[in-house]
Amino acid sequence: MSIQSENIQKLVERREKARLGGGAKRVEAQHAKGKKTARERLALLLDPGSFEEYDMFVQHRCTNFGMEQSHTDGDGVVTGCGTIGGRPVYVFAQDFTVTGGSLSKTMSEKICKVQDMAIRNGAPCIGLNDSGGARIQEGIDALAGYGEIFERNILASGVVPQISCIMGPCAGGAVYSPALTDFTLMVKNTSYMFLTGPAVVKSVTGEVVNQEELGGASVHASKSGVTHFASETEEDAIATIKELIGYLPQNNLETAPFKETADPVNRVDDALNSIVPDNPNKAYDMYAVIKSIVDDGAFLEVHKEFAKNIIVGFAHMNGRSVGIVANQPAVLAGVLDIGASRKAARFVRFCDAFNIPLVTLVDVPGFLPGTQQEYGAIITNGAKLLYAYGEATVPKVTVTLRKGYGGAHIVMSCKQLRGDINYAWPSAQIAVMGADGAVNVLYAKEMKENPENAQAIFEEKKKEYEELFSNPYQAAQKGYIDDIIEPRNTRFRVIRALEQLAGKRQQIPAKKHDNLPL
Ligand code: HXC
Repeated sequence: MSIQSENIQKLVERREKARLGGGAKRVEAQHAKGKKTARERLALLLDPGSFEEYDMFVQHRCTNFGMEQSHTDGDGVVTGCGTIGGRPVYVFAQDFTVTGGSLSKTMSEKICKVQDMAIRNGAPCIGLNDSGGARIQEGIDALAGYGEIFERNILASGVVPQISCIMGPCAGGAVYSPALTDFTLMVKNTSYMFLTGPAVVKSVTGEVVNQEELGGASVHASKSGVTHFASETEEDAIATIKELIGYLPQNNLETAPFKETADPVNRVDDALNSIVPDNPNKAYDMYAVIKSIVDDGAFLEVHKEFAKNIIVGFAHMNGRSVGIVANQPAVLAGVLDIGASRKAARFVRFCDAFNIPLVTLVDVPGFLPGTQQEYGAIITNGAKLLYAYGEATVPKVTVTLRKGYGGAHIVMSCKQLRGDINYAWPSAQIAVMGADGAVNVLYAKEMKENPENAQAIFEEKKKEYEELFSNPYQAAQKGYIDDIIEPRNTRFRVIRALEQLAGKRQQIPAKKHDNLPL
């Protein structure tokens, strides 16, 4: 064999060995847990043959605790660039078969390299996380590595989309980087996120809790809202990442890709004309409205299990990506509470950062009252949504379907807070509050002083109030909405509004950065 052939043979062998990560036995153990390896995950994520790997031969430099005896090419993370649907993305996938995917200084350097390239080249950065956190043997070096990753997460925020998928037990620093990114996905039953595991929790607070209860996908999807998606399997999670990417632009200077559709722009849906019940206290399902108006009924919901009284997610309208925010009258009457405000505010800000127009469907009875909400700072949290809509400069089209009461009406992208085109259905009621509440406040004294006539006073005043406010005409007469539309035409009217706004340019005063109420 010539020297050159030997050199090539050596390269092939080294590559083959590196591709095995922590070795066959550990790969087997990974599979036995129902988990895939880093490379298997990347193969599912990226277009076939598109992956270009970097730093395959990088090794850690640690000499503590006998670490100098054990080196694996690649050091527990696979990094590089590939394409999804032909569009470039930068990726890193931690390899649990190498020291539990724990983060060494060199691993952080590999991750930082793809983060830097994603920012410089204007493409999304996707992390597949499966890591026990800072590599304990490395001490401060590993911590420094996290600092450098976090720095890039922050610099990339609002510049390129960042997506984190949690595919194993992630602790410590391994959860803070995902928390800094735009979207987090988890896999049910095999992925966990917590700052400290059950053993530490028990020793510090005495609380006994298992991994699933402390930081499983269901907990973070429904209770904490830390994850935006909880998937049944790794395949499902990866499919969701690909679907999500399809709605997003490559970076903040571009618009999202156009998606061909055969769904007619002027498709009417007669069912919408009767979807709002005659009784204003009766619920209906906002999903039916969303699915009716978007292209092909396709809607990618974000934060599906969290604060279900508001719905947020992506759709296409006449081929263009839009962010939908909609109150859900079928859950808590669609009231705005702390969770709903936080959820929607984060989504609105993401869409604004990445040039995705917002379509807001309003049916909201107000903010949820009570001590629990006040003590939890509903004022500050509600202000987040108010702020997010108010600062957003993307095109904003709002349709009020039924209730638009009080501060919640203002928050939900009203015209006076920089809504661009605001429509109402004939069933809309835009007022400070509902009729019953209003009469009870305004005529309490009169009804108390005339107990025998109280009911008659109540009925009369309620009728008067309803005639004035339980319709959209007051708002339309004053130009507070742009038009009253027939529900069946909503798809067409919203699409036409979005087309009118396609060239929107709106500036905000120069500032270092804003001071969103956190
Ligand atoms: C070095 C680690 C490691 C780590 C796991 N391993 N975590 N090695 N540093 N942080 C190694 C194990 O020793 C083991 O090696 C292999 O990875 C697989 O781990 P197992 O424990 O066998 O797997 P499993 O039972 O599935 O448990 C996974 C785990 C657990 C839940 C992640 O390993 C664990 O609790 N690890 C420590 C988590 C943690 O406290 N990390 C530090 C966070 S502090 P062998 O050779 O035996 O197979 C942090 C600071 C940053 O991250 C803060 C920034 C803000």
